[in-house]
Amino acid sequence: MSTTSSNMLKVAVVGGEGIGPEVTAEAHRVLRWFVDKRAVPVVLREAQYGIVPYLATGHVMPPDTVEAIEDADAILFGATGGPETKEVPPEVRKAASLLKLRQKYDLYANLRPVVAAPALSEAAPLKASVLEGVNFIILRELTGGIYFGEPRGIETLPDGRRRGFNTEVYTTDKIQRVARTAFELARERRGKVCSVDKANVLEASVLWREEVIALHKAEFSDVELSHMYVDNAAMQIVRAPAQFDVMVTGNIFGDILSDCAAMCSGSLGMLPSASLGPVDRFGKRKALFEPVHGSAPDIAGKGIANPLGSILSVAMMLRLSLDRAQDAALLENAVGTALARGARTADIAEKGARTLNTSGMGDAVIDALNALV
Ligand code: IPM
Ligand code: MG
Repeated sequence: MSTTSSNMLKVAVVGGEGIGPEVTAEAHRVLRWFVDKRAVPVVLREAQYGIVPYLATGHVMPPDTVEAIEDADAILFGATGGPETKEVPPEVRKAASLLKLRQKYDLYANLRPVVAAPALSEAAPLKASVLEGVNFIILRELTGGIYFGEPRGIETLPDGRRRGFNTEVYTTDKIQRVARTAFELARERRGKVCSVDKANVLEASVLWREEVIALHKAEFSDVELSHMYVDNAAMQIVRAPAQFDVMVTGNIFGDILSDCAAMCSGSLGMLPSASLGPVDRFGKRKALFEPVHGSAPDIAGKGIANPLGSILSVAMMLRLSLDRAQDAALLENAVGTALARGARTADIAEKGARTLNTSGMGDAVIDALNALV
């Protein structure tokens, strides 16, 4: 039995908080479909995270979850956050946070693809003409910048005022490795990289731009490179998003721009993501796959959330961790088919359209998969 295990990808399935468990359950079903019907070599291990295990055991991330994640090649993560999480003391929460996971496994390359589904052009908040041909990736640096920079804190000044402060910081190595990922990605796509920064104001951005230019010149001059300030990039994403192929940027700009870019796909509920660590000496890299949307406390527990962001994250897992590009394309086609057949959760429904709940959308994707093979 254990002789086969070395070829199997170990996947930890961690639904987490808010709508995380609901959407992850559907993505989990879809992944199991690939195990059953397409012999995708995966061992699945479910683990709990967040407020539920905290209230039961005092651990946001119980030892079993720590082990499951440590042992896993890939993690399918749901969401974290929500009002009830206030019951957890901040330091307990911080120590077991998603940010800590990103940091612990050095998951620096956060891929957030943005594709405008033709079937959703009616439901999307942007005009169909703006959305034509939109297919780009935001590559967000995920382990640096102001999210992790020191010093940080809140302090009381001698005169009684309080002062909150954070540090935007990037070192050359962190810029270079994510820029390299961007150029490599672009070579497999349409050959264009747009690097987004705020070099007109921030020194960290000045260095960012210098390093991107230097790497481009040294190794990737076949790729078309452009630069954009982040404020302009935010506008261009809603004005003319089809111009982008690979957009590479730092942690906080990528956080903000990816929510903005979600409007190109119709809903934040549509966006998948992959966070990749460095390649190890066996050629493997730890990866975490999660929808871009958060815990959505307003609809948590109602069973109405859109699971497609999570399901499309499984497609990214098939492609990036399992090297199953055909199966990834099959799943993306199945999602497209389900949408073309009119499957809609509330967030992507045209006015007056019939809506499916979360598991109904999971069914629609699995029906489409069964019809496609
Ligand atoms: C994201 C989220 C996270 C972030 C939160 C949940 C910490 O908004 O992945 O985009 O800010 O990175
Ligand atoms: Mg975000």
